[in-house]
Amino acid sequence: MLIDGTHYRTIRPADDAESVEIIDQRRLPFAVEIERIRTYHEMIAAIHDMHVRGAPLIGASAAYGVYLACLEFSRDERGATDTALFDQKLERAMQELDAARPTAVNLRWAIERQRTATAAARTVADKINAARATADAIAEDDVAMCAALGRHGAEVLATVCESNGGRVVNVLTHCNAGWLATVDHGTVTAVLYEAAARGIPLHVWVDETRPRNQGSLTSWELSQNGVENTVLCDNAGGHVMQHGMVDAVIVGTDRTARNGDVANKIGTYLKALAARDNDVPFYVALPSPSFDPRIENGLKEIPIEQRDPSEVLTIRGARDGRIETVTLFAPGTRAANYAFDVTPARLVTGYITEKGVFTAEELEHALTDRPSAKIGDRRDMRRNDQ
Ligand code: MRU
Repeated sequence: MLIDGTHYRTIRPADDAESVEIIDQRRLPFAVEIERIRTYHEMIAAIHDMHVRGAPLIGASAAYGVYLACLEFSRDERGATDTALFDQKLERAMQELDAARPTAVNLRWAIERQRTATAAARTVADKINAARATADAIAEDDVAMCAALGRHGAEVLATVCESNGGRVVNVLTHCNAGWLATVDHGTVTAVLYEAAARGIPLHVWVDETRPRNQGSLTSWELSQNGVENTVLCDNAGGHVMQHGMVDAVIVGTDRTARNGDVANKIGTYLKALAARDNDVPFYVALPSPSFDPRIENGLKEIPIEQRDPSEVLTIRGARDGRIETVTLFAPGTRAANYAFDVTPARLVTGYITEKGVFTAEELEHALTDRPSAKIGDRRDMRRNDQ
């Protein structure tokens, strides 16, 4: 994607091949700072403290974290020759990386790909090469998947545009399912960029997304790439939907379960309820690594991250070019910080994937080799949700 006209990816191996470059997203949209990550512990901190964020980017970052761990262990005493010791340390590192954040399934998915690739390699040198090749492949696949997802989503918006007589299509989105949440293009934003490129007139309502205000990333990113947008405070979504100002809602996902339940940034569920009440179609941009067929019932089983309450009690912003944090509540105020919620499948109109647009009933068959569970079974699951 473009920043001031220059193309960037959110992560890339550095030229020295011994470190990885990321954009420190805590500084955005006020400063674009490239951070160099040299160790797998630094990568764990970058994921946990949200220098990098968004499910697909978390997956790619973890994959490069495994590569960094391989490099580190190969430098240890006996590391380059004792394969058993190397494997033991690597497995521990992969478990630590896997625990950096709990909700986005892309993290586990990427680690599992790395586990298979490194186990299949015999020597330490081969394991390093396998880890690097796998991390690169995960990053490249992500770029290709987002682009394909964007093409399918643009078809959806073309239909919306046609049905409203060719006037501007108003899309509402929550959080940042943008280029910054992936390696390139984004998921929701891939749809928007592709639709804009096809000449579909667009305007995007961008939810602020407290407490971390990822809406500021989305709005900045859209503006950098020429897509008209307006920020809304989180509570305004229902109002604009009631007044016919939203033609479609499109959100991302951190993990979508086998029954189609969608974990995404806290507040997504409320937008889905308002969309249903106002007959606004509600779409989920879902690249296949964010689909978790091992979880039958999203509402009951997807782990929801709880972050430090200080994120709710304070707010970050810029004054005179300096980033500052100010306190919003009285000293001693207690806060809860649920980072994600689950939107039941019954509120989702369709899932925009790299393979096409599907209903909850079609998802499993479309994204895995397995046949989807019978619709009757799904109804039973949904009944459990209520
Ligand atoms: O806590 P974050 O900022 O990592 O949460 C990000 C989201 O909820 C995104 O919507 C989701 O990861 C999809 S990104 C393509």
